[in-house]
Amino acid sequence: MTNAKQTTTNEAEHTAPVEAWDAIAALYDEHVAPGESDLAIAGLRLAGLRAGETFLDVAAGTGGLSLPAARFGATVLATDWAPKMIEHFNARAGAEGLDAVGRVMDCHALDIADDTYDLTGSQFGVMLVPDQAQALREMVRVTKPGGRVLLIAYGNPDEFEALHFFIGAVQAVVPEFEGPEDEPLLEFQVAVPDVLRQRLIDAGLKEVTVDTSNQERIEVRTGQQLWDWCLGGNPIPGMLVADLTDEQRADIIRVLDGMVREHSADGPAVLTAPLNIGVGTK
Ligand SMILES: C[S@@+](CC[C@H](N)C(=O)[O-])C[C@H]1O[C@@H](n2cnc3c(N)ncnc32)[C@H](O)[C@@H]1O
Repeated sequence: MTNAKQTTTNEAEHTAPVEAWDAIAALYDEHVAPGESDLAIAGLRLAGLRAGETFLDVAAGTGGLSLPAARFGATVLATDWAPKMIEHFNARAGAEGLDAVGRVMDCHALDIADDTYDLTGSQFGVMLVPDQAQALREMVRVTKPGGRVLLIAYGNPDEFEALHFFIGAVQAVVPEFEGPEDEPLLEFQVAVPDVLRQRLIDAGLKEVTVDTSNQERIEVRTGQQLWDWCLGGNPIPGMLVADLTDEQRADIIRVLDGMVREHSADGPAVLTAPLNIGVGTK
């Protein structure tokens, strides 16, 4: 496995280390991955997954994309550099009796032979890594000639409602809080559809399409649920609030609660985020 330090660029200071992903794996499994199934299915449909095909998930987390693919009838290998993410994935796949296994692997250097998979995908994973060009080349390398590569990534951060609720609630309690630093987060490096299209082409793919018609929909009923989603989905929000007191955290959750209530009618509040779903053929 490639050491993360060997693969980093000068953008690496904005990257969470593997230990930080391990630390949120349980929260991710409980509060984030289960809500991703609709968008995962939308991506798998756009990539034309068929039952009986082989599917490789890169930076798979606890299985937000792999579990729907396996339920659909694909034979799945889920890879992630964080061992705890893979533990949760294997537990879920085993409990459902799916044809799916997880293995710890860094996406910048996949321990997989060339031309192996019918479909290789990554949902919110290769989207955020420091050497994305290398990770995309790896995804293409391990895909069969004529096979497809799928990348699901966030679109325009200005329209990412949960992120703005979170920052707004923290600022209501800690007015001097500035949010993420001035430099754009790696999470949004392919937020512009044409940038994603070009990166897929540069990685060696043909017939590249980028769909922008789908959204992530986060359903929450309480401020606590939104807090758990934010802190469980990515280590960065937790790092931003690491120095706050318990009282400040409780106040932020109360503010979030008010925001969620204002945003809901009868059912849960639905917060959306735009998506770019890129597909190309090797
Ligand atoms: C936001 S989560 C997405 C997880 C999953 N694909 C999903 O859709 O639920 C990002 C994942 O990328 C993984 N990751 C980050 N850097 C990685 C790397 N260099 N190699 C492999 N996985 C990585 C993290 O451990 C985490 O599980």
